[in-house]
Amino acid sequence: MRVLSGIQPSGKLHLGNYFGMMRECVRLQEKGESYVYIANYHALTTVSNAEQLRIDTMDVALDFLACGLDPERTNFFVQSDVPEVQELAWLLSIVTPMGLLERAHSYKDKLAHGKEATHGLFAYPVLMAADILLYQADIVPVGKDQKQHLEITRDLATKFNLKFGETFKIPEPYTPEEVAVVPGIDGQKMSKSYNNTIQMSATPKQIKQAIMSIVTDSTPLEEPKDPDSCIVYQLYKLLETPEKVAEMAANLRAGGYGYGHAKKELLEAFNRKFEPFRERRAELAEKPEMVKEILAAGAARARAEARKTLDAARHAVGLI
Ligand code: ADP
Ligand code: TRP
Repeated sequence: MRVLSGIQPSGKLHLGNYFGMMRECVRLQEKGESYVYIANYHALTTVSNAEQLRIDTMDVALDFLACGLDPERTNFFVQSDVPEVQELAWLLSIVTPMGLLERAHSYKDKLAHGKEATHGLFAYPVLMAADILLYQADIVPVGKDQKQHLEITRDLATKFNLKFGETFKIPEPYTPEEVAVVPGIDGQKMSKSYNNTIQMSATPKQIKQAIMSIVTDSTPLEEPKDPDSCIVYQLYKLLETPEKVAEMAANLRAGGYGYGHAKKELLEAFNRKFEPFRERRAELAEKPEMVKEILAAGAARARAEARKTLDAARHAVGLI
């Protein structure tokens, strides 16, 4: 079984990224051959500061390695180190109906948030399909918001296979239900673009600030509260054991337990879980050359695999 996923270096990684896809990438690397890459070509659709892109690329590498991605088991690399993906994107664009891209939520959402309607943004799902199909992935761990992109990938692979002969495997998305959407501190989806994240690599002081500013309703301390409509509780659920989670739910329902208490427990749970991560990350940050070597070795292995699929696709359409 081949597992593959990518993440854009377009800002600091956060709990949504961790529970939505990073943790699954780390878990699934035990089960099969695994590919994880830093999607810097994709990030160019929204990031225009070259130095920032370089910094964010390194930050993503550090975050992934610190949270347990093992470069011995996973081919971990930077997307642009395998430029073959661009040629495959072109071959896929031949079978891409305009309507399919016009209906993409993520494209419409970005326009609604004031982004310019560029061709890069529009063609984003085609490049993502090329990413996935290039490595003949079976399973793609992604958060719920990426499911439509996976549908588009499956569609394009099927269309290409029908038109030019069996060339690509049809991949399956993989999203554990309990973490389909991690809420941000304002209650919207946690996202780098909404300024509502709890960042994994933030300092203890920044984490405390973020957790203390989670939006809560105005139910007075002594009154019972509904855990399911409490963001603090939803985040706590991701971090703690079922027993501790049941305890917080009971406390909220009983009354006499305020959101301030809940936030304090969330902060402690976060620190318990992410303290080892912070330490590993700080050690890795001291060795940027080693991190670059890991990425270069991952790219070399990925590139050899990419070449095979690209050659098959070129042959199928008649380029060679
Ligand atoms: P962001 O919205 O912060 O820009 P990305 O779009 O780069 O995040 O997402 C990277 C990966 O993390 C994707 O697989 C995405 O589905 C997942 N992800 C991002 N935010 C969340 C969230 N709040 N809940 C669950 N998964 C998420
Ligand atoms: N579009 C994805 C996101 O914003 C990132 C990505 C690029 C990706 N290529 C991918 C995810 C391939 C999974 C597989 O999160």
